[in-house]
Amino acid sequence: MTDNKPFGGVRALITGGLGFIGSHLARRLLHMGADVTIVDSLIPEYGGNFFNIHDIRDRVSVNITDVRDSHAIEYLVQNKDYVFNLAGQTSHLDSMLDPKTDLDINAGAQLSILEACRKHNRSVKIVFASTRQIYGRPKYLPVDEKHPIHPVDVNGINKLAGEWYHLLYNDVYGIRASALRLTNTYGPGMRVKDARQTFLGVWIRNLIQGKAIQVFGDGLQVRDFNYVDDVVDALLAAAPTTATEGQVFNLGSEQVVSLKWLAEKLVALHGSGKFETIPFPPDRKAIDIGDYYSDFSKIRDAVGWAPKVGLEEGLMRTLEYFSLHGKEYWDT
Ligand SMILES: NC(=O)c1ccc[n+]([C@@H]2O[C@H](COP(=O)([O-])OP(=O)(O)OC[C@H]3O[C@@H](n4cnc5c(N)ncnc54)[C@H](O)[C@@H]3O)[C@@H](O)[C@H]2O)c1
Repeated sequence: MTDNKPFGGVRALITGGLGFIGSHLARRLLHMGADVTIVDSLIPEYGGNFFNIHDIRDRVSVNITDVRDSHAIEYLVQNKDYVFNLAGQTSHLDSMLDPKTDLDINAGAQLSILEACRKHNRSVKIVFASTRQIYGRPKYLPVDEKHPIHPVDVNGINKLAGEWYHLLYNDVYGIRASALRLTNTYGPGMRVKDARQTFLGVWIRNLIQGKAIQVFGDGLQVRDFNYVDDVVDALLAAAPTTATEGQVFNLGSEQVVSLKWLAEKLVALHGSGKFETIPFPPDRKAIDIGDYYSDFSKIRDAVGWAPKVGLEEGLMRTLEYFSLHGKEYWDT
């Protein structure tokens, strides 16, 4: 996105802004001249980390608040031009072990945010970070937005509810909202401390720490990946236009690779390390979606978005970042 004007002087609220994607978005909005407020609960098991904003800390307003606190949210949404709604419980496994917390954050709190907007700020525009997880195991590839919805875990169901509350409030109350269904997103600041959200973060950590990367199954399952800068582009492209209102859009990439290819590539880019294939742990197999990649032509047609950062370049940048700053992530 090259046009900086839509965000010069605007007031933007980012829920989950100390997390991986939210912090990159905060930095970009700030550089475009926006006034940025971050809301994040910093629940230790989740992805929030103050180091993600260490370079912009004194230029953004940070509220350590839980989005389940409807009173705080009612105050925070006031006078905002945009809400980028990224706060979420992101672990699929955790959603199976503690489904109620996932429900409260990914569905209940989303409803509270929308209610706060209905009561206090109907002119706001919201972009919601949804997920490709809601499709479940693909019935055809690439998966477009018309693909049947069949979540394979509690997280997918609750994210779907969160997404649809946004669309409903758009349609019924005119609170302009759109949802992007993100695919695997990676880059500096991604979750590497454990495998709760994504395997790729732990692979990168293991590689840097000299441990073997573990690939579940035969490693032939294919996926698409987006570098975080491209996802930020999509969030920013979706926000100011009427073309996205009341709609959902897949993100994705034309670069579709097997997990084994990805493991080999990481080892090659790092210049050392190894990977091994191991049997799928049963709890992960039960909620695995198999092969997946998206058709993202809808968002390309609506706002001209397409990913720009190739996988090798993005992986290299990510490896470099964690080689330098990894301790800020796995020691916290
Ligand atoms: N990273 C991906 O591959 C991916 C894929 C699909 C969808 N998404 C969605 O994108 C959004 C951002 O993901 P991310 O990768 O940056 O994850 P992340 O965990 O790094 O960021 C989420 C942030 O939300 C905060 N948060 C969680 N619960 C909260 C609560 N109750 N109140 C306030 N803050 C809370 C966390 O502290 C964290 O900083 C999430 O909603 C996620 O579901 C991400």
